[in-house]
Amino acid sequence: MERPRKKVVKERMQTTDIIILAAGKGTRMQSRLPKVLHKIAGQPLLSHVLTAAKTVNDAKSIVVTGFGADQVENTIGKQADAFVTQPQQLGTGHAVQCALPHIRENSKVLILYGDVPLIAPETIAKMLDAVTADQMGLLTVILDDPSGYGRIIRDTDNNISAIVEQKDASPEQLKVNEVNTGVMALTSQQLMGWLPQIDNNNAQGEYYLTDLIAIATSDSVKVKSIQPQSATEVEGVNNRVQLSQLERAHQRQKAQKLMESGTSLADPERFDQRGELTVGTDNFIDVNCIFEGEVKLGSNIHIGPNCQIINSTIGDGVEIKANTIIEDSVVGDNAILGPFARLRPGTELADNTKIGNFVETKKAKVGKGSKINHLSYVGDAELGEGVNVGAGTITCNYDGANKFKTTIGNNSFVGSNSTLVAPVKISDNSFVGAGSTITKDTEENSLAISRAKQRNIDGWKRPTKED
Ligand code: UD1
Ligand code: MG
Repeated sequence: MERPRKKVVKERMQTTDIIILAAGKGTRMQSRLPKVLHKIAGQPLLSHVLTAAKTVNDAKSIVVTGFGADQVENTIGKQADAFVTQPQQLGTGHAVQCALPHIRENSKVLILYGDVPLIAPETIAKMLDAVTADQMGLLTVILDDPSGYGRIIRDTDNNISAIVEQKDASPEQLKVNEVNTGVMALTSQQLMGWLPQIDNNNAQGEYYLTDLIAIATSDSVKVKSIQPQSATEVEGVNNRVQLSQLERAHQRQKAQKLMESGTSLADPERFDQRGELTVGTDNFIDVNCIFEGEVKLGSNIHIGPNCQIINSTIGDGVEIKANTIIEDSVVGDNAILGPFARLRPGTELADNTKIGNFVETKKAKVGKGSKINHLSYVGDAELGEGVNVGAGTITCNYDGANKFKTTIGNNSFVGSNSTLVAPVKISDNSFVGAGSTITKDTEENSLAISRAKQRNIDGWKRPTKED
């Protein structure tokens, strides 16, 4: 039987092209690095903009580079869909002109800035919603001190009619405190039709993108103003002071979200997230902790001060004491780490394990309930359950050319100050006497001991000071 055909209403999905201006050198950064490659939360400024741009369906991002174009392109790579180089910085209008070959015919076009990193997806969506055949969107803000910015000029009906740059403004226009953020959205037809009409007859001899507004008005296209949720969204970075201020603003937002989702922070001003952090509930994070890359925390975790956790997964009920560093590792439930523990890549700790102070692990699988409590190095090793590794134990995993593995069986005990020369296996339930250098595999239920026998010398005379 033939099914009744559903009427498919083919809505023509409109594409979006997002041009990101990033040609400027950023002289005031006093840096060899192009400004847009300076970082906030561990990511280049430009990457933040591209991440926000990616929240738009079907968006194509086009980055306009100039100063350090190769460096920008190499660093950003596939995060952007296209790069164009503006050979000479002749103004924002000229920069957008350079991107035109990448603009599709029936697109909405949004213009963003590589040095304005915190633009929010919600604001981008509002801007694009404002675009129709007879309306464009312009992001504006009202500032107590508008100096330096292009002023928004409105007609007697309060409609936007032009933007006048500070250097071209009359004393009357300078009093306006609604300013241009630079972010605008329009159709590709509008942009292609209007850009050739821009000239450089102005105080700076530049092709001003902002001249589009007056052209739109004369073309009977309404300019709808949109305001960001927060002023930080449209703040640009021109120097390192502003960079640090935006970093903190960004971290404050992250801290806020974390607290709202059930994590306590000792001080939200001393919290740094540089990547993706997923969390359970009822965790406590003390001051100066840094979370980098992809970090997953379970619930009921207590993290002491000055810890750094990178690309790792931490189970429920774990206690991480001060100054512990964890990288590319997995930590089971109820483990106790630190203070001053260092888990290097490939550490996998089962539940109820303990890694104490000044212990370094690397590519180490540690079974349930096993403990390495003090001053040890355990690398390229596999430990069973219930193992106790005494203070100062070293797995000698490297012969200067190759790495070898140490295996320690269930319920074994390694006495303090032992060196285990890999490849070597300590069997289940075996015991290594303190101070041993173990080069041969041990038997189950045995004691391995390799140290000089103690001699006690009677009547030994202590040396005395010479006159
Ligand atoms: C621009 C706006 C101004 C607005 C302000 C907001 C114009 C003419 N003026 O002024 O109305 O209030 O931003 O910050 O647009 N860029 C290029 N190529 C160029 C010139 C600039 O890529 O040839 C990039 C810069 O790297 C920068 C951005 O465009 O990221 C803005 O340029 P900038 O020179 O800072 O413009 P403003 O004078 O601040
Ligand atoms: Mg500027």
